[in-house]
Amino acid sequence: MIPLVYAHRGASGLYPENTMEAFHGALKRRADGLELDVQLSRDGKVVVIHDHRLERTTNGTGAVQQHTWRQLRRLRADKGARPPTSQTRIPSLKEVLDAFAPTPLRFIIELKNFLVPQPHLEERVIDLIKRYQLTERTVVSSFNFDSLLRIKELEPSQATALLYVGPLQQPWEVGARYGTNQLHVPDDQLTRPLVEEAKARGFQVLGWAIDKSARIRQAAEMGVDGIITNYPGKARKVLRRS
Ligand code: G3P
Ligand code: CA
Repeated sequence: MIPLVYAHRGASGLYPENTMEAFHGALKRRADGLELDVQLSRDGKVVVIHDHRLERTTNGTGAVQQHTWRQLRRLRADKGARPPTSQTRIPSLKEVLDAFAPTPLRFIIELKNFLVPQPHLEERVIDLIKRYQLTERTVVSSFNFDSLLRIKELEPSQATALLYVGPLQQPWEVGARYGTNQLHVPDDQLTRPLVEEAKARGFQVLGWAIDKSARIRQAAEMGVDGIITNYPGKARKVLRRS
């Protein structure tokens, strides 16, 4: 089975991450899905941005949560882009789903609520997934495992993914405890025995973030179900050849 290719923060190796440009770029490069990061604005809008602060990816300053959606929307989200793309903005999750729900793309929606609490983010994300009838094409992931339990409480049929970094002994035990369907394994922890054991226990396994051609090929040979990559076009080509 050829693994699915998910564009990490969109085609973020080529476009400003977590922007409409990066998501359109992923679709153009025939990604199977988009991985994106969500958190809440001060007034409760679900916004697509990775960091809890604005400085790295935008021309704003301060915490995302201290800004209303109107304020966030005025910012440019193309910091570091070459060439700068002055129209690039922080998207809302609704805007992303408006644009891409009609396409065949799948979604990994990562709740960024491990370091900074995001009250009721789970409810808002589940509402949006349901409104766009995307339950079957979407996985909700998080480093905050309690939040994954909350997702299952809200919608038992919603697929979730245990997302972790660094060594985690027997991640399938943790996944089982939190009722997840998938394990999202960091590249440096991805081995064939891990993939085989996790799959034997009924989990789907995705590796992140895998960008080098040789490693993409290796992950496919291990039997992963999906590859989360900053370069979906490259991954697509490599997998077509392997
Ligand atoms: O999909 C996993 C990956 O996105 C988690 O790390 O920091 O890139 O959101 P990060
Ligand atoms: Ca992410």
